[in-house]
Amino acid sequence: MTEPAHLTATRAGYDALADRYGELSQAALDGAPLDRALLSAFAEMVGADHADPLVLDVGSGPGTIAAHLAGLGLRARGIDLSPAMVSRARRDHPGIRFDVGDMSALGLGDAAAAGLVAWYSLIHVPTGRRQEVIDEFHRVLRPGGHVLLAFQVGEDTLHLDEAFGHPVSLDFHRLRVDDVAALLVRSGFEPTARLVRAPDPTGAAAKIPQGFLLARKPAQGSSVRRATRDGGGGADQGEV
Ligand SMILES: C[S@@+](CC[C@H](N)C(=O)[O-])C[C@H]1O[C@@H](n2cnc3c(N)ncnc32)[C@H](O)[C@@H]1O
Repeated sequence: MTEPAHLTATRAGYDALADRYGELSQAALDGAPLDRALLSAFAEMVGADHADPLVLDVGSGPGTIAAHLAGLGLRARGIDLSPAMVSRARRDHPGIRFDVGDMSALGLGDAAAAGLVAWYSLIHVPTGRRQEVIDEFHRVLRPGGHVLLAFQVGEDTLHLDEAFGHPVSLDFHRLRVDDVAALLVRSGFEPTARLVRAPDPTGAAAKIPQGFLLARKPAQGSSVRRATRDGGGGADQGEV
């Protein structure tokens, strides 16, 4: 079967950028106190609800987020489309497992993970394929499991033909918070929190708003039903 073109292009792009991206990644997290606060809250919520919690970092890149979560006491594991990113992550974080893979087929059993983070990786999934990806996140999470998403907020798509001096063909889809929340609800998640960080005119990267969404897969026995695909919500699903 032929691979979708966006996967081939994204893999090639991040293979070319892996080293430079890896060099910048830790400093970016160190300079983002709100991001770290959210990751801490997420880690605390997952740890409180699950013993020995396995947490997936989906689109793990150089492994910075997985390593940060491991430092917060979670059993973190990464998966990324780009073999060069996975090599870099394994080299820099030898105590953490990183696998090459696609987020639409995570290669894990149902309900295998207690938490899942997709930190600026859903932005590479085209609009028509985002629901199946969120469905896959829902499948691999245990009842009561938590998901945390980070993405650039907007309605357009930035296309780059060049980055850090390398020719690439990368699409960065900016996402509307309401649209991502609706995808989560349709998969059966309950959104629990949302944050939009304002653009930082002095920052190098964050010149547009950054969105963060937390959601939970309802615990077994909860009254929340999986939402219907015709737009109807399940019982008790509030707007977040
Ligand atoms: C902007 S980088 C973010 C990396 C990391 N999460 C971070 O914040 O440092 C996006 C990452 O998502 C990965 N990615 C994109 N599409 C993917 C897919 N379909 N499955 C798995 N990983 C994917 C890319 O290879 C890249 O490493």
